Amino acid sequence: MIIAPSLLAANFQSLEQALKQIEDARWLHLDVMDGHFVPNLSFGPMVIEAIRPLSEHVFDTHLMVANPGQLIDAYIEAGSDRITFHVEVDEDKHALIDYLKTRNTPVGLSIKPHTSVEQLLPYVDRLDHVLVMSVEPGFGGQSFIDHSLEKIRQLKTLRTTHDANFLISVDGGINASNVDAVVDAGADVCVVGSSIFKAADPAAALKAFYDR
Ligand code: DX5
Ligand code: ZN
Repeated sequence: MIIAPSLLAANFQSLEQALKQIEDARWLHLDVMDGHFVPNLSFGPMVIEAIRPLSEHVFDTHLMVANPGQLIDAYIEAGSDRITFHVEVDEDKHALIDYLKTRNTPVGLSIKPHTSVEQLLPYVDRLDHVLVMSVEPGFGGQSFIDHSLEKIRQLKTLRTTHDANFLISVDGGINASNVDAVVDAGADVCVVGSSIFKAADPAAALKAFYDR
């Protein structure tokens, strides 16, 4: 199981220190917000470009933006290794997936809490990962939405019935008390923000997720 700490919850007064705290993680989750698709604004490609040389992590960039097609190149050039955009956006999602494949960039689609897993059916055999939002996208520190567990189980079944091989990633409200249920339901990747970066010792908090 991969833990992907979410930079959104880090201390922005020192991102270099934040990256050191989670150097034992394989992935770094980068929550990009545009103030339109979600009611919050986070960081642009420049921040990713600035931290790229400081980190060996797989940069797992989550585009919570209304117009991913216009932004994908900038986030790849800045250093993103994987790109996720939302199934809810009003863009040609097959064309975006095609494009990301031409750029050899693993691609994922994310579904918001009220979006059904069925919305992903036209795309599942083309995706490298699926991101289940277990909170309403836009802010860290929210509580895990329990019906997300059923969506994870549905995706696990769907992956088998469609002979697909996407990773199941889950994002939002994951902590020491619910991570076992999330993994047991079928998550391959857990995005964790507050439970790691808001802990007194983020490195120890990360280790506790792996040692559970
Ligand atoms: C919401 C963000 C958060 C974040 C994880 O849009 O995507 O889910 O990554 O933050 P925590 O772990 O604090 O919920
Ligand atoms: Zn995210």
